[in-house]
Amino acid sequence: AGLTSLGLALAASGCGALGGSATPVRAVEFGTELAIPPLAESTVVGGVRTFELTARPGTREFLPGVTTPTWGFDGPYLGPTLRAERGERVAVRVTNELDETTSVHWHGMHLPPAMDGGPHQPIAPGDTWEPTWEIDQPAATLWYHPHPHGATEEHVYRGLAGLFLLDDDASRAADLPSRYGVDDVPVVVQDKVFDDDGRLELRHDGGEPGTLGDTVMTNGTVGAYHEVTTERVRLRLLNGSTARTYSFGFEDRSFDLVATDGGLLDAPVRLDEVRLAPGERAEIVVAFEPGDVTRLRSTEPDLGGVAASFAMGGNDAFDVLELRAADDLAPSPAPAWGPSSHAGEDELRAEDATMGRSFELADRMINGERMDMSRIDEVVTVGDTEVWEVRNAHPVPHSFHVHDVQFRILTIDGREPPPGLAGPKDTVYLEPRRTYRLLMRFEDYTDTEMPYMYHCHMLLHEDEGMMGQFLVVEPGETASDHVGH
Ligand code: C2O
Ligand code: CU
Repeated sequence: AGLTSLGLALAASGCGALGGSATPVRAVEFGTELAIPPLAESTVVGGVRTFELTARPGTREFLPGVTTPTWGFDGPYLGPTLRAERGERVAVRVTNELDETTSVHWHGMHLPPAMDGGPHQPIAPGDTWEPTWEIDQPAATLWYHPHPHGATEEHVYRGLAGLFLLDDDASRAADLPSRYGVDDVPVVVQDKVFDDDGRLELRHDGGEPGTLGDTVMTNGTVGAYHEVTTERVRLRLLNGSTARTYSFGFEDRSFDLVATDGGLLDAPVRLDEVRLAPGERAEIVVAFEPGDVTRLRSTEPDLGGVAASFAMGGNDAFDVLELRAADDLAPSPAPAWGPSSHAGEDELRAEDATMGRSFELADRMINGERMDMSRIDEVVTVGDTEVWEVRNAHPVPHSFHVHDVQFRILTIDGREPPPGLAGPKDTVYLEPRRTYRLLMRFEDYTDTEMPYMYHCHMLLHEDEGMMGQFLVVEPGETASDHVGH
């Protein structure tokens, strides 16, 4: 369908060049074992589980014989997987050994704004920042990445990102594959461009929605395979790309979607494809017969018309990760769980909403404004349930993320979301020209000076200003004049 109508839509809107950054994803051999990010060590002192993370430069051989300069946490590329339990207090000592200021944001985490790791918590070179907070949300696959003002795209692209897994009683009691790196496998998907010297290259040539790489990697491995030893495998998929949206699936089988950004769905949903925009996660459970060989792949998703070729760089389909089942597979139960910890007191109900706000995304702005660190865009009262109506007014795709909360998608252009989008979310792909109504509640933490962020998670868009700031305050309070202090 795409090209002609896309061209027309762009001409009419005056937007940038079609896929100016995009070359097709290259076909690779799937001959390297998938790297599994190590579980981060921690010590529990005085009841606080304490992790250490150090951001530093390194090198990595992504392509055979090519040495690529990188940044990573505790290693050359990406970072260890942090893991904690609901109810625990955690602390992370984050040291910056880079030559420039960075920050570390805990994406999807409910925590005080001063611990959030956004642009107001910079870590200067040589400094250590030590946020601490209590894990007070359901089990989920969260992640962490830098969020320095105007430079998030570059810091993530060079390799600074990792997973942060949360567990709780419901997730532990669930019938889900749960041996980390064996049948519970993190899969961080990213795309890159290498220049002639083997350096990671960002292309800022006006192409939308940012740099679409010709090389796709999983956990930093190009052309990875994973040996399957059980009848079912849970893949924790993170779209850790800066711009590309994927539609993940298999040529020869469907799978069960069991969790979205903020944790378990009410029940597994059988799907052929799951679409993930930058920042989104999905946990899927895939079944195998002995000896099966199949590949996780990405196909051109239905993005709501004109923008499909945009987000995908014109690719129809490419393979991402090979899964090779052994001749003998250990039994795994079918995915099932009781009422998740989302049930009960936590329930978000549309009838409780007392406030509505609207956000329109267009031209690197939200509601006509670019991000300004010293401007508070919204002030929310703690305890309130709100409906945020978010409209993508562009023919360009966006990915809308709200800090601190997990929301539910009430409607998309007035219709109920498909079952795969009905679970807890902190980031949502915005199809062009559609309106999303998001239900969320702001709890526990208030601050009259330190804001949380909402923004497009296509990181070039974020850096160029498609971001705003909100405070959560006590009833009757207003914003102080000293934003971010
Ligand atoms: Cu994952 Cu404000 O970002
Ligand atoms: Cu965007």
